[in-house]
Amino acid sequence: MHVGVIGTGYVGLVTATCLAEAGHHLTCVDNDPRKIQMLREGRVPIYEPGLEDMVARNVAAGRMRFSESTAEAAQENELLFIAVGTPGREDGTADLSFIEAVSREIAANLPAGARKIVVEKSTVPVSTGDRVKRSIQRGCRPGVEFEVVSNPEFLREGSAISDFFRPDRIVVGVESEFAANAMHRLYEPILEGRYFDPPGSRRPAWLVTDVASAELIKHASNSFLALKISYINSIAAICELTGGNIEHVAEGMGLDQRIGPQFLRAGLGYGGSCFPKDVAAFREIARSAGAEFGILKEVMDVNAEQRKRFLRKIEEALWVVKGKTVAVLGLAFKPHTDDIREAPALDVLSWLEKQGARIRAYDPAAQENIRKLYPDVAYCDSPYQAAEQADALLVVTEWDEFRYLDLKRLHATMSHGIIVDGRNIFSPALVADAGFEYYSMGRPAVHPPSAGKDVRAT
Ligand code: UDX
Repeated sequence: MHVGVIGTGYVGLVTATCLAEAGHHLTCVDNDPRKIQMLREGRVPIYEPGLEDMVARNVAAGRMRFSESTAEAAQENELLFIAVGTPGREDGTADLSFIEAVSREIAANLPAGARKIVVEKSTVPVSTGDRVKRSIQRGCRPGVEFEVVSNPEFLREGSAISDFFRPDRIVVGVESEFAANAMHRLYEPILEGRYFDPPGSRRPAWLVTDVASAELIKHASNSFLALKISYINSIAAICELTGGNIEHVAEGMGLDQRIGPQFLRAGLGYGGSCFPKDVAAFREIARSAGAEFGILKEVMDVNAEQRKRFLRKIEEALWVVKGKTVAVLGLAFKPHTDDIREAPALDVLSWLEKQGARIRAYDPAAQENIRKLYPDVAYCDSPYQAAEQADALLVVTEWDEFRYLDLKRLHATMSHGIIVDGRNIFSPALVADAGFEYYSMGRPAVHPPSAGKDVRAT
């Protein structure tokens, strides 16, 4: 099929590239000429493992090209995806001005006589599909036939390609069988389970619904996942007060198939470009529809509190933070990405700077992005270099390479053996054995076996 994707941001570019890989012909449009130039030169403006190679392969195969013209894409393609940004505003609501602008441009350029499908791919408030439809109706020439479809994405940064080809479900919100059939043809290679190992061993669920329900599925799913994280973080707080161990509690809960083990990792809470924005937006959507969605306020409050809890642990460990050297491991909002949007590291670095700590930091991918905001931090080439002469080491993002650090070597590098682990990546017994004093989330603090004792207490 011939598909135009408007917006070469994260969602647009991954979607377009994967659809090309599945055999379709893609035109990727962006109004930023620098982005288009970069893509034409074979460079991908975002960090996503495997994406650059896949773009190159599909460009070489003649299935993918780049353009600055939405008008051209609207004329030439049967399906048009809108994948432009919907940034969050101060009050939590989404700014839909890019969606509106693209809708109007599409409207002005849809040719009469061909039935086109406009697919809403960006995460949008419920009823945006209806607004897009009205906007196109208002702006298009007589005789134009089109339909608006909602097709929410569920891609995680860092595993977006795999998520695209091996999804749990594909959701389409449509108004006609014609649109449902077109979307089915588009996703056929994926629906056949061709990309599962072995091929056909699993098939994604195919859910056809109305446009409003599809829009709600996206916000409801992301908010539920955020709720799971805040829930487990609240349990972690109770563990800290009562002597429980959150890892055991989460395991015990997750073994119940109705709960499931995923998204029960306690830690510094959620960040990134989706969850914080989507939870806030969904709460506002509910409120403006006349339903107070109080649980989501709690979800947001717990998430904010979790970051403060971590800072209190640093204070507990170091007492006075001013003048201390602190090593920060991990700056991205999660592993396998260079994305620092809403990353807990931003709060941690701001607080450390305010306290007057000397900061040394290391992240395998996000260092350059953070450097622009925190130029005074000493950026290092490895976790060991970051730990040199540090009074405490903080784990902020759970990159795999941190899990397998040589703890004894790390200890020998530092001035004081203190770890505050915001992601529970270490075994308390092993770090204590290496001589560390260890604070983590929802587990009792541990002290090394040889730690000094108060003689009066013995
Ligand atoms: C998320 C959704 O998973 C995806 O479906 C949607 O399309 C976009 O938003 P993403 O933001 O890439 O994807 O990250 P994800 O891997 O889902 O993690 C989100 C946040 O939750 C991260 O900050 C992560 O650290 C945190 N998290 C996740 C936890 O704190 N605990 C967990 O158990 C799981």
